[in-house]
Amino acid sequence: MRILSIETSCDDTAISVLEAKGGITNPSFRVLSNNTNSQINIHIPYGGVFPALAKREHQKNLPILLEKTLKESRPLRQDLSGKPFDLITVTYGPGLEPSLWTGIVFAKELAEKWKVPLVPVNHMEGHILSVFEKKQKIKTPLLSLLVSGGHTELVLSKKWMQYEIVGETVDDAVGEAFDKVARMLGLPYPGGPEISKLAEQERMKIVFGGTPQGGGPRIEPIFQQKKGDPSKTGFHSFLLPRPMLHSKDFNFSYSGLKTAVLYLIRDLGGLEKIDDKIKAQIALEFENAAIECLVHKTQKALEKYKIKTLIVAGGVSANKHLQNEIKKVVNKKVKILFPKKELTGDNSIMIGVAGYLNFIKNKKKVPKMAGIKATGNLRLS
Ligand code: KG4
Ligand code: ZN
Repeated sequence: MRILSIETSCDDTAISVLEAKGGITNPSFRVLSNNTNSQINIHIPYGGVFPALAKREHQKNLPILLEKTLKESRPLRQDLSGKPFDLITVTYGPGLEPSLWTGIVFAKELAEKWKVPLVPVNHMEGHILSVFEKKQKIKTPLLSLLVSGGHTELVLSKKWMQYEIVGETVDDAVGEAFDKVARMLGLPYPGGPEISKLAEQERMKIVFGGTPQGGGPRIEPIFQQKKGDPSKTGFHSFLLPRPMLHSKDFNFSYSGLKTAVLYLIRDLGGLEKIDDKIKAQIALEFENAAIECLVHKTQKALEKYKIKTLIVAGGVSANKHLQNEIKKVVNKKVKILFPKKELTGDNSIMIGVAGYLNFIKNKKKVPKMAGIKATGNLRLS
């Protein structure tokens, strides 16, 4: 089956063509073409995504990307009915509604023109199923830790492709906290990778005693160990909170952590008074705190639901510290899956994968085109 897939839920316009075969538990995919237009540079001055601009950019980029994608996925299979695709898939939520609508309207026009079924896809299900771009065997119960700029969720699947949100953030998403803290530290948007880079360099210095290449003795992380005079030790012992770490549920909270960084910077005399070394130490402690909360709650949920497979997906799943810490705490019997790096953030391949699996699961029935609507606050259920 040849699939055209479209994703415009936030600030990336993405179109891809996939070839798919197999059933819902053993699908396999081949990517024939994959194009993304990132709007990051346009949104940088706003420190986040500006919805009206995002919509305008999607409208401008969709036809250009489609043309490129169609060229790359040649030879276009024009069968007797003249259909170049068997299926079109498009994200219908969650996300920014103006952005979502742009993709949906575009997908509907193509589906009508080619008389091809259109499958609406939940973006978060797309993140979960992004690990399927590679052939995988998944055992249930499955737990998915979804971490992105808009979401921080623990999703339980007692059965394959059934979802129950068992924990989520009560305020900010973890990616959003990374972005906001980066902004406070004067780092560019999106801040996750920037914080992570600084934190990693600092962590290496501590672990290997001075150089990222290593060689020195291993010492314990500064925040547990370093007290002394910072002018002598070279390290400051900032301790940031781990909100809701010990709450009895599987929820998260990131707004207090973000505010704690704000106050810390203020108490240090403002950003202008903070040198690069201190900035890196704040980045490190922030990353440690943010990730510790994710890992701790995930570990508890794994135990409670006797999980056999763990998927960690969404933009923040690219974070190396998260990946390392998760691997440390997960029981050997649990299989851990991360999407490949290019599929951690928003992309249309995951929408194609999820669309295909839903199409097969629903025995090739699709909703009426008029009923496909952008749903900004769509939830997995
Ligand atoms: O899934 P995604 O691309 O878009 C949403 O659906 O939100 O996630 C984007 C988020 C941003 O907040 C970005 O800062 C964060 O993922 N992110 C990271 C890293 N790479 C991306 N956060 C922490 N560490 C990273 N390495
Ligand atoms: Zn996403």
